[in-house]
Amino acid sequence: MKKILILAAMAAFAFSCAPKQTPQELLTIHDAEINEIIAQMTLEEKVEMLHSKTNMSSEGVPRLGIQDIKYTDGPFGIREENGDGFRSLGWTLDSATYFPTGSALAATWSKEMAYKNGWAMGKEGRLRGKDIILGPAINIQRLPVGGRTYEYLSEDPVLAAHLSVEYTKGSQDAGTAVCLKHFALNNQETDRGSVDVIVDERTMREIYLKPFEAAVKEGGAMCVMPAYNKVNGYYCSENNHLLNEILREEWGFKGMTVSDWGGTHSTMGAALGGLCVQMTGDNYFGQALIDSVRNGALDESVVDNKVREILRLRFAIEPVPEDVANTVMTSQPETQKIAYEIAQKSIVLLKNEGTLPINKEVKKIAVIGQNAVLTTASGGIGAGVKTLYEITPLEGIQARAAEAGVEVVYAPGYKNYAMRMGWGRRGPGAGAPVDPLVANSTDEPADPALLAEAVALAKDADMVIFFGGTNKSIETEGSDRKNIDLPCGQNEVIQALYEANPNLATVLISGGPTDIRVLEQYSPAIVQGWWNGLEGGTALAEVLFGDIAPSGKLPFTFPLQLQDSPAYAMGNFGQKSSEDLFTLMYRLDATGYTREQINEYIANLPKPESHYTEGLLVGYRWFDTKNAPVMYAFGHGLSYVDFEYGDLSLKQKKDKIQVSFTLKNLGDMEADEVAQLYVRRPESQIERADKELEAFERVTLQGGETKTVTLEFPISELAHWDMETNGWVVEPGKVEILVGTSSDKILKTIETNI
Ligand code: BGC
Repeated sequence: MKKILILAAMAAFAFSCAPKQTPQELLTIHDAEINEIIAQMTLEEKVEMLHSKTNMSSEGVPRLGIQDIKYTDGPFGIREENGDGFRSLGWTLDSATYFPTGSALAATWSKEMAYKNGWAMGKEGRLRGKDIILGPAINIQRLPVGGRTYEYLSEDPVLAAHLSVEYTKGSQDAGTAVCLKHFALNNQETDRGSVDVIVDERTMREIYLKPFEAAVKEGGAMCVMPAYNKVNGYYCSENNHLLNEILREEWGFKGMTVSDWGGTHSTMGAALGGLCVQMTGDNYFGQALIDSVRNGALDESVVDNKVREILRLRFAIEPVPEDVANTVMTSQPETQKIAYEIAQKSIVLLKNEGTLPINKEVKKIAVIGQNAVLTTASGGIGAGVKTLYEITPLEGIQARAAEAGVEVVYAPGYKNYAMRMGWGRRGPGAGAPVDPLVANSTDEPADPALLAEAVALAKDADMVIFFGGTNKSIETEGSDRKNIDLPCGQNEVIQALYEANPNLATVLISGGPTDIRVLEQYSPAIVQGWWNGLEGGTALAEVLFGDIAPSGKLPFTFPLQLQDSPAYAMGNFGQKSSEDLFTLMYRLDATGYTREQINEYIANLPKPESHYTEGLLVGYRWFDTKNAPVMYAFGHGLSYVDFEYGDLSLKQKKDKIQVSFTLKNLGDMEADEVAQLYVRRPESQIERADKELEAFERVTLQGGETKTVTLEFPISELAHWDMETNGWVVEPGKVEILVGTSSDKILKTIETNI
C-alpha cells in the first residue's frame, strides 16, 4: 500500500514537473493511432479526404469507420442546411441563433462575451452535427468601405487577438472546431479572388497576422482557411511562407487547412504550399494529385501529412451520431440569451446632448427610417443566418414603449437600396418589378413623398428617433462599398426631421463606419446600433429607454471622411473592380460554362495589386500619428454615467507589467466601463505608431461603486518585428503607459523602463 502511495506521489510529481503541452501539441496525442490508420489507407482513400464531398463536407475513411468532416458557416449563426450551389434544403429544424456581427461583438470589448459567443456557436454546431465552424472571421478592418468590415472584428490587432482567442476556446470547448478565416490579408472584397497584397514582413506580422497567431497559439484553433487573395505573389492557398513557414513551423500549428470555397488554384503549388483540403471541387486535389504521386512528382508523405492533420481534428472532435444530430431546433433559449447579452453590451453611444435616455415626459415617439424595420440576419452571402426569429429595432421600441404607455408611430423616411436576387442589377432578378420603397442606387436623393410623411409624423410627436446607416446589400461579401456616404438621401431626411422636431436621437444601423458629417449637425444624440443579432431590437430599446447604460466602445475609427483614412490618404485603394470571383464562378456555372472554360476565364482576369504602403499605420495608429482629426475615435463610447479614474500605480515583473488604479461610477445606475491601456515608446529608434493598445478590461460598477482595476500585459507584447534579424525584438528604453476611456481620451499616465 505504502509503495503504491509513493509511486502515485512520484507520478503526480513527475506530471506536475512535465512541461505543459501547448494547445497545438494536444492535437498530436493520437498521432500513433493516426499513423497506423494512414498505413492501412490506399492512395485513393487518402486523396478522397483532400477535397469536398458535398458543398459543406469532406470525406472520412468509410472503410475504417472514420466519419466525414462536416463544415458550417459561421461566424454569426450556424448556416441553414444547403444542397449543391448553396440552395436551401428547406429543413424545419435548422433555424439558428443570429448573433451580433463581428464589429458588434468587438464593440463589447469583452473577452467573456467572445468566449460565450464561440461557446454558443459551438453548442449549436453540435446540435446540427457539424465538426467545424467556418469562423471566426478575424482579418483586420483596413478599409472603412470593406465589404466584410462588418464581419471582421477590429482595426486593432490586440483587441482582435484577445477576442479571437476567446471565441476559439469557447467554440472548441463546446465541441466544435473553429476554422480561422481568411488567412491572410483578405482586407478588401474588390478583386478578392485575384488581388496580390504587397506588404512588408513587419506590417504583416505586427498588424495583420496577430489575431491569427494568438488564436492558433493560445486558443488552439484546429483549422485555418487560407484566403482567396495572393500575398506577395502567391495565392494564400499555396503560400509556403504563410502556411508552412509561419503557421506550421513558427506557430506550431498541428491542425488542418481548408481553402476558401473556390480558392484552390493548382495541384503541386497547393500540395507543397500547405493546403490540406480543396473546397470545393476535386480538379486539383483529386485524380491530378493521385497522378502527381504516381508519376513521382510528389512524394506520398506530403499527402500523408495532410491526412494526418485532418485526422488530428477528426480525433479531437467527436462526431455527432446521425440519430442525435438535427433532432431539435438549432436555436435554443440558452444560446439566444447569449446573443442578447452581447447585444446589450455592444451598443455605442457616440454623442449625447441630453435627448437620451428617452425622457419620462415623452408620450409619443416618431420612429423614422427603414433601418428600423429591416431584418439583418440574412444577406451578405456566406455570413447570412436563417434565424429562428429577429426583433427589429421598431419591434423592440414598440414592446418597451407599450410597457411605459408611450405611443409609437413609424414612417420609412427614405427608400432602401436592396440587391435583387443577390445578383445586383445584372443577374436573374434584373427586370423584376421595383418596390416603391426600393431605390435604384445608393446615391438616389430623398423621395419627396416619403420625406413629407416623415416630417409630418416628427412634428406631431414628442420625440423623433431616426434610424440611418447602411444595410446588407450595401455592406456585403463579394464587393466593397463605393464610399461611406449615408445612402438614399438620409442627410436630407435628418435635416428636415431636426427642423421639424429637435428632440431627436439618431441610431445608426450598420456594420462599418459611415460619413456622418451632415447627420451629426442635426442629431443631438447618436447611437451606433450595429447588426445586432436576434435580440438586437430588445437590447436597443433598453438602452434608449435607459433601463441599461450603453457600454459599447468603437472597435474602429469613424473618420470624418473616407479620404482621410490611411489607405485612401496614401492612394492605395480605389482600384477598378472586376466581378467577385466566387459570384462570377457561380454565375458562369449557372449559364452553362464548363469547368475548363471557367478556369480559362478566371486565368484571363486582370491581375490587380494592393500595396499596403501605409504600413503599420492602420486605423487610429494613422490618425494619432498624423495628428489628423476624426469624427469618433477608436475606443470611443459614452455612458449615462461618468467614471472617475484614480492615479496609476505600476508593478514590473520579469515578464510582465501590471498597472492598477481605482475606477469609480459617479452616477446612480449600474454601468460598465471599458478601461483601455495604450503604450507609447517616446525614445524609440524605429518607426512606430504614436500609441498602441496593449490591454483593456470591461468593469461593471453599481452606482457610486469604486473598484480597483488591474490591467496587465506581457513585456514580450512590446516586441517589434525586426527586419534585419527576421525575428521579434523588444527594444529597451522608456515606456509611457496611457490609461483612458478611448484612444483620444487618455486620463492617466505613468512611465517605466524596460
Ligand atoms: C467565403 C467564406 C465562407 C465560404 C463558404 C466564401 O465565399 O469567403 O467566408 O466560409 O464561402 O460559404
